[in-house]
Amino acid sequence: MAEVVAVWAVVVAAGSGERLGAEHPKAFVAFGDNPLVAASVSALDDHPGIDGIVLVVPAGWEERATFMVDDIGAGKVSIAIAGGASRSDSVALGVAEVPTDAVLILVHDAARPLVSAELIDRVLAGFYDGADGVIPALPIVDTVKRVDGAGRVVETVERADLCTVQTPQGFLADVLRRALAAPDRATGTDCASLVERIGGTVVTVEGDPRAIKITTRDDLRRAEELRDAD
Ligand code: C5P
Repeated sequence: MAEVVAVWAVVVAAGSGERLGAEHPKAFVAFGDNPLVAASVSALDDHPGIDGIVLVVPAGWEERATFMVDDIGAGKVSIAIAGGASRSDSVALGVAEVPTDAVLILVHDAARPLVSAELIDRVLAGFYDGADGVIPALPIVDTVKRVDGAGRVVETVERADLCTVQTPQGFLADVLRRALAAPDRATGTDCASLVERIGGTVVTVEGDPRAIKITTRDDLRRAEELRDAD
């Protein structure tokens, strides 16, 4: 974008992460020397295109989060607040803390610690006149099947026009705020789906295979290997 606009990031880290089987919420499991969420916060804090960050953590972890932010010197974080019951609720609570003069909002899952400056660049550069949202996408390499409740294959889905999507997802702030006002927002597994529902135009940019999402212990190990391979 040619003109200078205020860009904020909302990092959602309020999930319980039960599939990780840790005693802490997922965002606070150790990832190297810091909690997992620190990696995302650092990457966004270091990026010159980001003006401010709102951090959304599990209720009761706000103080821990604030210590972590001080510890890593993430000066752009304005506040650490408690999230909600669904991811969309957590995003909405975070977006409510973003100043109203922000033009773009990037929403990022703390569960993706290996977010690179290049990926953030691509999302920011992906905005053009008429785009309400920009999301990173990766092609699907596996064959995809639709199955019924009994596990029987119903259909082989044409994969050429399918992709998987990642975060950060960037949006025009006013469009994201409108999308999040939907009463059924909890059913959206990402922000782009909510923007799509109100008729917004969402475009894709090239994702990053390294920016994996941590769900299980194996994912955590894999992310540590990828980080250390740098
Ligand atoms: O559960 P899942 O890994 O799909 O969540 C994606 C992201 O959304 C994670 O970073 C998680 O912390 C966050 N989340 C949240 N509030 C919830 C559920 C998930 O901030 N209620």
